[in-house]
Amino acid sequence: MTDSTPTPTAIADDRVFIFDTTMRDGEQSPGASMTLDEKIKIGRLLDEMGVDVIEAGFPIASDGDFEAVTEVARIVENAIVCGLARAASADIERCWEAVQHAKQPRIHTFIGTSPLHREHQLSMTKDQVLAKIESSVSLARSLCEDVQWSPMDATRTETDYLVETVALAVKCGATTINIPDTVGYAVPGESAETIRMLRERVEGAENVRFSTHCHNDLGMATANSLAAVAAGARQVECTINGLGERAGNAALEEIAMALKVRADAMPFKTGIDTTRLMAASRLVATVTGFPVQFNKAIVGKNAFAHESGIHQDGMLKHAETFEIMRPEDVGLTKSDLVMGKHSGRHAFKDKLQSLGYELGDNALNDAFVRFKSLADRKKEIYDEDIVALLDDAGTFAAHDHIQLERLAVSCGTDGPPTVELTLIIGGEQQSTTATGDGPVDAAFNAVKALFAHQARLELYQVHAVTAGTDAQAEVTVRLNESDKIVTGYSSHTDTMVASVRAYVNALNKLLVRREKNKPA
Ligand code: KIV
Ligand code: ZN
Repeated sequence: MTDSTPTPTAIADDRVFIFDTTMRDGEQSPGASMTLDEKIKIGRLLDEMGVDVIEAGFPIASDGDFEAVTEVARIVENAIVCGLARAASADIERCWEAVQHAKQPRIHTFIGTSPLHREHQLSMTKDQVLAKIESSVSLARSLCEDVQWSPMDATRTETDYLVETVALAVKCGATTINIPDTVGYAVPGESAETIRMLRERVEGAENVRFSTHCHNDLGMATANSLAAVAAGARQVECTINGLGERAGNAALEEIAMALKVRADAMPFKTGIDTTRLMAASRLVATVTGFPVQFNKAIVGKNAFAHESGIHQDGMLKHAETFEIMRPEDVGLTKSDLVMGKHSGRHAFKDKLQSLGYELGDNALNDAFVRFKSLADRKKEIYDEDIVALLDDAGTFAAHDHIQLERLAVSCGTDGPPTVELTLIIGGEQQSTTATGDGPVDAAFNAVKALFAHQARLELYQVHAVTAGTDAQAEVTVRLNESDKIVTGYSSHTDTMVASVRAYVNALNKLLVRREKNKPA
């Protein structure tokens, strides 16, 4: 931060809005696409955890995006629901059509302002960009009370011109001014200085909320966002797990925990219930198939693990010797041995509650049956197993077009891996035998022989839910059909069963997508 940064105490309002863009900027990561049901699940969780603004998508981008923003707008109870729109009337009108269903709707419109964007992306002069700002913000404001405007690539825009564009957007009715570091180029001092300078020079700045939107190309997204807050920004745009274009966006969990743990240095408040952070991280990792780096701050598998002797000794004597926050504060429950085949329904229900799951009677019955079946295969059941089991339960539905009926695998040193597979496809039982370069390849060949398709396999990923050779395997399969991406997942103690189920899950999602994209 520069010397000229105002002291935080000089700013009356210490409440920082958390604006989550996991479903918009996050989904722009190649391969991170989410289905409607997944977006609804994420929207619900973000709303429950106290996110102030949920950017649910880019309504004009596709019918799928439009539908997702519309549905998230309908189900969200507390948060503002926002959609993105370029500086064009068709974009803004489509965005309004989707967000208008929200209790608190917002239109977020943007245009590139830097010389590079003006010349090479837009082929527009400075004056033409100004004219677009005037027409787009005015139109958005005529439709919606709550309008956010962003000068894309703000951090590489000439200072005087940036002031002129922001002042015009404010004059035309923007209520939030978001300053994006689109290419992750800024350093913290610059991030703070830009907000400070705009608050000082823009006429009417005191009537709008300044926001910061930092990309992580140089690993400084969180630092840049916090510097902007110290300089007067009162909204931070971020994503769960730092998902986003290229190196991603500022991570929501890092912003929320940094403001909580270091409230002494940064006296600002958010509305986030941080005990939901692990659940949100896990949900986003599962639906996108983007694993969380083991040493990722706050939500990484190792973020609270102490391996070295000195650290373990210190932790046993007093946790604070090596721990600045408690695992419970981010929703991490101790992975003690929890349950086994003799555990009853009541204990199972209590365990679900302690993990943050409230299931209705039918869902609870179904989960309990699955738990018992897992307990027959796996002696020791940990919290992670139960979470994986619940994720898996959400993956399959009785009405799925393709269902796994039987799988038998033979592999080893003696011959080509061979798979016998039976699927129910559209209610009809179909069987085949296939070989391949390894059992997974053989199984996937068998699926393809029974259900022919042109989708390209982009990702096959296996991860062990817990330690031990009896661990459940969590498998992610990503398919790409004509640039439409779907991600399937499943977990099972048998890696081959989990693999075929994840593949089948991805194919069912592909079918739903094809159906939606059919011309009316
Ligand atoms: O990074 C960026 O500039 C954006 C804008 C659309 C806000 O995501
Ligand atoms: Zn962005």
